[in-house]
Amino acid sequence: MRDELVEALASEGILLEPEAVQFILSKSDPLAFTRAALSTMAQQPLIITLEDLRSVAPVAETYQAMEAIVEKLPDPAPLRRELGEIKVLRDITGNSTCEGSIADFARYFSNRFKKIKGMLARRRELVGCLPVPRALRMSREVRIVVMVNEVRTTKNGHKILEVEDDEGKCLVLIPKDSLLISESIVPDEVIGIVGKTSQKGDLVVLNELIRPDIPLRGVGMQPSDSSASVAFLSDVHVGSNTFLHQQWNNMIHWLRTEGRDRIHYLVLPGDIVDGIGVFPGQEDELEIENIFEQYGTLAEMLKEVPDDIRIVIQPGNHDAVRPAEPQPAFSKHISDMFDSSTLFVGNPCYLEIEDRTILSYHGRSIDDWISNVQGLSYDHPLEAMKEMLKRRHLAPIYGGKTPLAPEKEDYLVIDEVPDIFVAGHVHGAGFMDYRGVKVICASTWQAQTSFQRMHNFHPAPAKMPVVHLGTGMVDMLDFN
Ligand SMILES: [Fe+2]
Repeated sequence: MRDELVEALASEGILLEPEAVQFILSKSDPLAFTRAALSTMAQQPLIITLEDLRSVAPVAETYQAMEAIVEKLPDPAPLRRELGEIKVLRDITGNSTCEGSIADFARYFSNRFKKIKGMLARRRELVGCLPVPRALRMSREVRIVVMVNEVRTTKNGHKILEVEDDEGKCLVLIPKDSLLISESIVPDEVIGIVGKTSQKGDLVVLNELIRPDIPLRGVGMQPSDSSASVAFLSDVHVGSNTFLHQQWNNMIHWLRTEGRDRIHYLVLPGDIVDGIGVFPGQEDELEIENIFEQYGTLAEMLKEVPDDIRIVIQPGNHDAVRPAEPQPAFSKHISDMFDSSTLFVGNPCYLEIEDRTILSYHGRSIDDWISNVQGLSYDHPLEAMKEMLKRRHLAPIYGGKTPLAPEKEDYLVIDEVPDIFVAGHVHGAGFMDYRGVKVICASTWQAQTSFQRMHNFHPAPAKMPVVHLGTGMVDMLDFN
């Protein structure tokens, strides 16, 4: 058992000191425990020690308990894909096929590459782009489209990218005096490169970096005759003892009075409950300790919303669905607790409401963007969302905080340019316009938690962004 375990973990790049192996072997399901423990660590150490495991063991065990609950839940019900004027254009629900094998991962990354290469190949700057092996044989300026494997800085301050396409690998050099030297290039993103092959033919010296980005198409949505508005309520976190009852009630009162004629649609982009076993010590911060009761309570709370407002619900990383993205919609066990007219979707999800396309994503990858892209911070989550749009991918970085499921198609690619792009997760509130896309960060209904206080993080709770579907105007309502 010991050797099998060490071998299985080593094949995933996980190394352990002997005492740590001993500790894992004392658990009833050593492999599952290790995976749960790793998912709770902020960063995976090079070699995992006994101390590392001991410090995360309590939360890893609760997490495992939650995983066990999720696993026993039946698959998501064949879902309604329409609700009045709302259509689900695309999400993973009912389409998941992956088992997480190495072949699945190879197929997944190759699908990502193909999709984003398709966008890049249409760019004028990349016309005539060549496969890597052929480009290396050319002595003139070359154009290639590649996926980034690794980014290194040399001791002289140059940057070296290790990149590949479906035919070969090569190195790309960004000289330290290049204007692009401070550009943040993240692992596993797909980029276009214009550069010159070195004399030895072993690397390409970068001149231009091309990102798929959002095409320029003027600012703002083209007005339509819709008179409806859609409101977003992210990170409700029902069950937490920092849930903001009073502010929630203020919001419901507004929906039942002034907002009644204005709001036609309500979208909840994930973390609708606080869940269990999500972070160390969570049990001390719960007002409702049973996860099903948390959902039941929210279902009751949403019954106060006027009946003519259509509700769409998506899961996040605190919710009881698989943590790996793309996440499918809730299973029937949970969705049955809610009013039958509620529409349950996966994460991420493309929706169409009154001819407007909405990309709704819970936003877990914002953590990875912030730790990988210089200049990003939790104070400005919209900037992280802009990085996603530029790279046309919600969560490119594999092996960070965002677990990715290797589906045969990469559902995290931003294939279609949305009118509205909404995310939550980081409990910030704000909106901006990026190349005609309304980018929205949809607040939270939870006050600052002790974990956030410890990290000096200040959320912007109890705000509700409202987008008018006809004009594209955004209002940030404040219920504090
Ligand atoms: Fe979250």
